[in-house]
Amino acid sequence: MSHEKIETNAGLLAFFVILVISIGGLVEIVPLFFMKETTEPVKDLKPYTALQLEGRDVYIREGCYTCHSQMIRPFRAETERYGHYSVAGEFVYDHPFQWGSKRTGPDLARVGGRYSDDWHRVHLINPRDVVPESNMPGFPWLEENKIDPSMTPKKIRAMKLLGVPYTQKEIDEAGDAVKGKTEMDALIAYLQVLGTSIKTRR
Ligand code: HEC
Repeated sequence: MSHEKIETNAGLLAFFVILVISIGGLVEIVPLFFMKETTEPVKDLKPYTALQLEGRDVYIREGCYTCHSQMIRPFRAETERYGHYSVAGEFVYDHPFQWGSKRTGPDLARVGGRYSDDWHRVHLINPRDVVPESNMPGFPWLEENKIDPSMTPKKIRAMKLLGVPYTQKEIDEAGDAVKGKTEMDALIAYLQVLGTSIKTRR
């Protein structure tokens, strides 16, 4: 009887559906905030250097994540191609993380060290110079644009506020570290560190 009452009253039904989903969600999600596996950095994880952090901002601004994920799933087909699957502890200093899900291009979670800086430079200016069949757009302006060194310490301070263990010295020296660098230099520095904090078997 009471079941019928719920099923024939849209408002009541919606209320109970939301209640049940909320409890289920809390039980699944809340423990993640307290589990070591998801909250502790892997042993060799280092905060991004000033230049890498600026490169990460270029990556986000240019929308690289709309075509590239940074999340290798624990399946044979993925680990054979990209290397060790991604683990949560690799991303604890990423705010926000760049996992993504769209793969027009390959996953980039372990692209660090796979190519030379020069390869990336040529590829980012015009991908077809190194991969003739590529449909990735070129980003030639990155070679012209300079990083604004007055912003870098502020960005690092913001990251520190979010729990990334930067020192005062790193904040003080951040401006000098990026002075005169192009957005291309920064983006390549970022790409080259991706996925290098754990040993992979490539
Ligand atoms: C419209 C989709 C698209 C966008 C946007 C895009 N890419 Fe790509 N990317 C691709 C495709 C497709 C490939 C594979 C062909 C190639 O290597 O060019 C690729 C390949 C790559 C590779 C080589 C990966 C490997 O393992 O061989 C890197 C590195 C890369 N992209 C970086 C970037 C960066 C950095 C940005 C943003 C500045 C970006 N991409 C934006 C589609 C895209």
